[in-house]
Amino acid sequence: MLKKILILNGPNLNMLGRRENDIYGIDTLDDIKLMCEQEAKNNGQTIVFRQTNIEGELVSWIQEALGEFDAIIINPAAYTHSSIAIHDAIKAVELPLIEVHLSNIYKREEFRQKSYISTVALGVICGLGKTGYKLALNALAEHDK
Ligand code: DQA
Repeated sequence: MLKKILILNGPNLNMLGRRENDIYGIDTLDDIKLMCEQEAKNNGQTIVFRQTNIEGELVSWIQEALGEFDAIIINPAAYTHSSIAIHDAIKAVELPLIEVHLSNIYKREEFRQKSYISTVALGVICGLGKTGYKLALNALAEHDK
């Protein structure tokens, strides 16, 4: 069981609740954080939940997770489709990582259908809204290293 989980959120996810509600729903990132804290508690996991609009900050947080966390859940938001730096950081730390998206990126614009993260992820969950974060925590709770 992977106990200490780092949950990272990329750019514009701080705008959830007022951002394209038809696509992303009405929950705020704080609502999602609360749901994750509850689910982690039920699973006997501890989480740290963070958001940034800055690519390099995500890279640093992934690097710093080494030795501090057992696994990472990340919604890289728009950096999913552009960031070789985040791809490389994930590869470097070799921690199990689940990529989460609220929306189904494969049903949307063509530029969203390419992920630089999926090839270095343990698994990918998309299109299930905030439930995706919950499922990722549960998957890590059942995952053997
Ligand atoms: C997203 C999908 C991305 O394409 C987009 O840039 C986001 C959010 C999602 O959760 O559905 O900001 O990662």
